[in-house]
Amino acid sequence: MEVEVVIAEFLTSAAGPSGWPAAGPPEIAFAGRSNVGKSSTINALCARRGLALVSSTPGKTRLLNFFRVVPKDGPELRFVDLPGYGYAKVNKSERAAFQALVEPYVKRRETLAGVVALCDPRREPGAEEHDLLEWLDAAGRPAVVAATKIDKLARHERKPTLERLRAALALRRAPVGLSATTREGLDELWARLLSLAAAVRRAQAGEPA
Ligand code: GTP
Ligand code: MG
Repeated sequence: MEVEVVIAEFLTSAAGPSGWPAAGPPEIAFAGRSNVGKSSTINALCARRGLALVSSTPGKTRLLNFFRVVPKDGPELRFVDLPGYGYAKVNKSERAAFQALVEPYVKRRETLAGVVALCDPRREPGAEEHDLLEWLDAAGRPAVVAATKIDKLARHERKPTLERLRAALALRRAPVGLSATTREGLDELWARLLSLAAAVRRAQAGEPA
């Protein structure tokens, strides 16, 4: 399914709950280690260069960044670029600040439809990835796992690598193999995001799942 985005615009940055925009359309958040490709994935999904800032210095995003996204044939959404976690140079107090920023959002935001958990398929998933998925599960938030920068893997390595990642993270479905550079996997990710958003909308309308 190819999704054309007609409007993609930055809404606001928030340093805490008081900075969140009023709840509106279903939100999809993007989480993962610094430098994994969160902002690049948002830009690629929206086909906009420079919508979310792609940093050459990892770990720069210290706020929740909200974007308004209107697909041509679909309902309006928001994308939320979360700060990167697990960056080695981040010290303890910065890590605590990260949790203070992200936890309330993931736990309390009523319009949060799901979280895209981005992983680098070239490395073994570590405690960060496991913790994130466990934590989302405990919070009752659906997760879509996507493996970024898949263009860096040779074609024949891709399927076995995604399968290893699926097994390592005990996932029901294989992760989406994604490349912001070649645009592989974007249609599949869009399909999964739209179905999450539809589930939230049905729940808000009081309809059965
Ligand atoms: P922080 O905001 O610092 O946490 O990083 P991020 O997760 O938002 O990553 P970002 O999108 O800024 O990308 C980090 C680097 O990876 C940049 O240099 C990107 O150009 C590069 N990158 C992102 N996606 C891809 C991809 O699909 N393929 C390749 N080859 N490079 C990518
Ligand atoms: Mg970023």
